Amino acid sequence: MNSFNFWIPTEIVFGPGTEKQAAALVKKHGGTKVLLIYGGHSAEKSGLLETIGQEFSGAGIPFEKLGGVQPNPLLSRAEQGVEIAVSFGADFILAVGGGSVIDTAKAVAIGAANPGTPIWDFWTQKVPVTKSLPIGSVLTISAAGSEMSDSAVLTNDELRVKRGLNTPFNRAKFAVMDPELTFTLPKYQVACGTADIMMHTMERYFTLQDGNELTDEIAEALLRTVIRNGKAAVENPHDYGPMSELMWAGSLSHNDLTGLGGVKDFATHQFGHELSATFNVAHGASLTTVWASWARYCMGQKPERFVRFAEKVWQVSGGSVQETVLLGIEKTVEYFRSIGMPTCFTELGIGVQSEESLRGLADRCVFHGARTVGNFKKLNGEDCYLIYKDANH
Ligand code: NZQ
Ligand code: ZN
Repeated sequence: MNSFNFWIPTEIVFGPGTEKQAAALVKKHGGTKVLLIYGGHSAEKSGLLETIGQEFSGAGIPFEKLGGVQPNPLLSRAEQGVEIAVSFGADFILAVGGGSVIDTAKAVAIGAANPGTPIWDFWTQKVPVTKSLPIGSVLTISAAGSEMSDSAVLTNDELRVKRGLNTPFNRAKFAVMDPELTFTLPKYQVACGTADIMMHTMERYFTLQDGNELTDEIAEALLRTVIRNGKAAVENPHDYGPMSELMWAGSLSHNDLTGLGGVKDFATHQFGHELSATFNVAHGASLTTVWASWARYCMGQKPERFVRFAEKVWQVSGGSVQETVLLGIEKTVEYFRSIGMPTCFTELGIGVQSEESLRGLADRCVFHGARTVGNFKKLNGEDCYLIYKDANH
């Protein structure tokens, strides 16, 4: 087992009606003036924003609002948030929404604490993050895991580049998780979330590291739970049982617990980010589109890992190692399809791409040759091109 540092400072308040505690939690964590950030329509339509506004008013906490955050959130919206936060004098940023809203809140928090520095300089690692405002969230979708993660992903709308930033300053003070808030989700978003939660675990599970027994068992249990409950949740997003299992799994899948002691891969996420940056497709769907192509390309690195995945997660086994490996991959693909997730470019809705487009995607993945992608197998530009090509039908 590798050495690790596991620091999760996020207070979790879980259960029906917990959104009513948002104002008290902000106060408890030192907030006295709040910028409340939300997305397109869902939080307004459900009455959630009004409920939270009433709680703030009741608690005597002044607040400003910034709405209109879209999926694959834009740098420009975060910059707008920084302006509001600075002129209002906000000392706490509250996200009401999903990964896109929470990541915007994280960017605003960093930008507002460092008003002289362009936000993108932090995302390109030109400037290290040394301070940020505290943030909290009221989660409305189980998916990205941003509510407990140290990461935030932004799209630079001018450059059409999507980048993540990992820093301990991205860890939220608290997350309010009421599974009933997710009942209004479209089935497609429930499926995207299910896929993303699985992928956060699989990106850690596929490691060359051995002897990491507890972490492996936790990851496998999480995957089996998400596979079972994700299907039920997509069938009925009003069913509290599956929706609550998904919500907790979403947070645990990406707070680092499922990969402690191992080395993360995250190649599929890089492939997905390039697809989202170029075609603005949903994050979860971008991942299922390329995962099997990645798996078939990389399985030779450590077939035993794929055998374990097939046997422990899917409970399938073939006559040979190769057969078992392929059975595990096939079961995953079948599952993604069964919840309506795409497994190739045409299913994703972007059509068959030209050679030039594939080369462009691959080149951007490896930062024009400046890096490789992933750790299970370190992939160069040609590898990335071949993986995209495999999904190009
Ligand atoms: O904008 P509204 O109207 O709220 O609609 C949203 C949006 O269209 C809708 N939605 C959310 N809660 C709802 C709801 N609709 C009805 N009822 C509700 N209760 O769902 C759509 C998707 O929302 P979004 O926030 O984009 O979803 P998700 O949580 O999947 O976040 C995706 C973003 O997070 C990033 C992704 O790359 C993507 O940009 N990620 C962030 C990570 C992190 N910070 O740790 C890790 C992930 O790997 C991921 O990269
Ligand atoms: Zn993800």
